[in-house]
This record gives sequence, C-alpha cells and structure tokens, in this order.
Amino acid sequence: MLKGKHILLGVTGSIAAYKSAVLVRNLVKQGAEVRVVMTEMAKQFITPLTMATLSKNPILVDFYNPENGDWNSHVSLGLWADLYLIAPCSANTMGKMVSGVADNLLLTSYLSAKCKVAVAPAMDLDMYRHPSTQRNMEILKGWGVEIIEPGSGELASGLEGKGRMAEPDDIVCQVEAIFAKEGPLKGKKVLITAGPTREPIDPVRYITNHSSGKMAYALAREAALRGADVTVVSGPVNIKAAGYPNLKVVDVTTAGEMFEATKRNVPGADAVILCAAVADFTVAHFEDKKIKREKSNYNLELTPTNDIAAWVGENRDKKTVAVGFALETNDEVQNAQGKLQKKKLDMIVLNSMRDTGAGFGYDTNKVTLFFREGEPVALPLKSKEDVAADIIDNMEKLM
Ligand code: PMT
Repeated sequence: MLKGKHILLGVTGSIAAYKSAVLVRNLVKQGAEVRVVMTEMAKQFITPLTMATLSKNPILVDFYNPENGDWNSHVSLGLWADLYLIAPCSANTMGKMVSGVADNLLLTSYLSAKCKVAVAPAMDLDMYRHPSTQRNMEILKGWGVEIIEPGSGELASGLEGKGRMAEPDDIVCQVEAIFAKEGPLKGKKVLITAGPTREPIDPVRYITNHSSGKMAYALAREAALRGADVTVVSGPVNIKAAGYPNLKVVDVTTAGEMFEATKRNVPGADAVILCAAVADFTVAHFEDKKIKREKSNYNLELTPTNDIAAWVGENRDKKTVAVGFALETNDEVQNAQGKLQKKKLDMIVLNSMRDTGAGFGYDTNKVTLFFREGEPVALPLKSKEDVAADIIDNMEKLM
C-alpha cells in the first residue's frame, strides 16, 4: 500500500520517541521511503544512528552540516514528501506549529510542506487535557492536519489516561488510510458479511461451521485501502480488523442477528459482499437448561434461516452491486451459476471444497468469478489478500 510513497517522519522530544524506531521499520516494511528529521531534544530519547539505520537515510537535525556547510533544505524536504508525519509530536512542537515558530528544521519543514501533514501527539494526561493543547489540535485540524489520536493507558509519569502516542501499527494504518482517501472507492459505501454464525442449542452448545473470517476481512481491508467506507457485519472470529478509521465492524452471533444487521446497513450501500458462511438452519426450540446425556436419543428440530444474500438481491437499490459467494462440494459450476440467478446477484465467487489450500481457514484461496453477463474468470491459488484485490477489481467494474 505504501510502496514508493515518500514519508518525512518528524520526531520530537518525548519518551514515545522510542516507538518511532518501530514506526520507521513498519513504514519501510510497507514499501515507503522514509527520511527522518529530529529535534535536538528527540536525540536525547532515541539515537540518530538507530533512526538512520532503520530508515536507510541520514538523519536531519540541523539547518546545515557544520563540517562542510552543506544546507539541509526544508523547502526541498517539503516538496519531496507525500506525507509529513510528526510522531511523536510534543505539546511544545504542536504549540510552535500553531504559532508559526520556525526555530528548528522540523518546524521549518512543516511551514514549507506542500503535502498532507499528520501528527501523533504524545504527552502527559494533564498536558493533553490542557485547553491550549486542545485548542492547538482544533486549529491544526482546521488547517487540514490529520490528528492521530493518542491512546489511553499508563503514561511515563505514572499517571493513567489519554496522552500516550498511538501504537506504531495503528499509526501505519492511519497513514494507509490517509493515502486511501484518494483511492478509486473514495466516497463509496461497502458492506461485507463475514465469518460463521452460531445457532445456540442450549446454554453451552451451538451449531456452527469452519469459517475463520480471513477471506471477508481481507476484502474489508482491500476495500478500505481503496478509500471505501466499509462496514463488516461479522460473526464470531478471532481476527482483529485493521485499524482504519473508514472500517467498522458490527459484531453478531446468530444468522438472525446477521440478517437484521445486514438489512439495517444495506440502504445507501454502493456494494454488498456476502462472504459469510451463514447457517442455513437454526434450532427450533432453544433449551434454556443444559441438555443431559441421560436421554437415550435426542432429535434436534431445525428451521431454515433467512437467506440474507437473496434478501439483498431482491431489496437492494438499483445502484447497489451485490456480490455473493458459493461454497460447493460437487457440481460446482452449475450450483454457483444457479445461486447467482436465484439470489439475483451481479457476481458470485465460487469456492470448491475440492481445491487444496482453498476455502475455510487457509491463508490462500482459489476461486472462479461468475457474472450475469460475460465469461467466468478462473483465478489460480493465491493469498486471500490477492484474491480480495481481484474480487474488488471486478466489483469496481460493475459499480
Ligand atoms: O472465512 P474463511 O475461513 O476465510 O473461508 C472463506 C469462505 C470459504 C467462508 C468464503 O470464501 C465463502 O465461500 N463464503 C460463503 C460460504 C457459504 O455459506 O456459501 P453458500 O454457498 O452456502 O452460500 C451462498 C451465498 O449465500 C453466500 O454468499 C452466503 O453468504 C449467502 N447466504 C447463505 C445462507 C444464508 N442464510 N444467507 C446468506 O446470505
């Protein structure tokens, strides 16, 4: 996602500066080219050698190199950067940014930056709460600076509360989201159903399936990175959704709850992707006490659940693109094409249980895409992230 992006990272004097080492490493890992500008005070918290080694670029602190007079041009730094990220950003630096003080290279670079600017504040609870800090953040926001909210927890001072710099992984997500805002799905709403459902039998037992949610969450991440506002209606999974501000998860348990949450979110959606493995049947009579094994035999009465995909196919707006999945063990092509027609979808993604490395739980998948018109597209086995990109490419063409 950050491949080839130029990120100028400003590091100010804060104990959170130690986290900026991990931040640089993660940005570089995502393909970004990173240059680091530090304040004198930041050097007391983390060494320039560490930052230079991780960023693979010399660190910039002074306006010029005292050895040879070489000038560090803040203007060209500002022009080079696609994003100027100041993390950690101390209360002092934030105040100076607002007042136009330009007494170090980090600040002159800010004043001449033509690119998007983001700051990740880091300070003690009282400093963070102080009206001047709050006002400064509001002013910066008003100027289009992205504020990466600090987290809550134990602070270096021993106080508990808000003020600690966001974790490096979360900052990388926010950075990706900043670039995503210009993506092809900018302004579009995408709804995705994910994971399995659980149909309770008694207080300790339920019926479910093997869906891990990996495929659906890969789709959610891909759509969010292309700029869409993504809502995931998710059954119980062990995945933490990427921390993008444009991606939210609505947790549900049963097929009935998934149906209701989907219905609530379909109006206004530009695309709906039905990736969840929804139970086709639920238990007719929930036993409110644990069923005892003393019974010699036990018949469970099941009733059909609502077909969420069919409801979406029938009730969506004209503009809403509907993409379903078909998980098959036999007669794959025929069944997938049948579901495409019966559920009134625009596209269906066939998963065959006969393909090794595909379907439930794997990190990879092998699918074929069917459309109402046009030839099917058979994709080779690839990571679920790459499959998600292919599915969204095809979905975009239908939007
Ligand atoms: O979660 P993973 O471990 O990554 O695995 C991914 C996956 C195998 C779950 C996924 O790729 C997949 O195939 N999902 C659909 C599974 C499924 O239930 O298929 P189906 O053929 O039974 O259902 C057809 C379509 O109707 C699907 O879009 C399904 O979401 C939808 N459906 C089914 C029943 C129901 N009551 N409501 C529905 O919306």
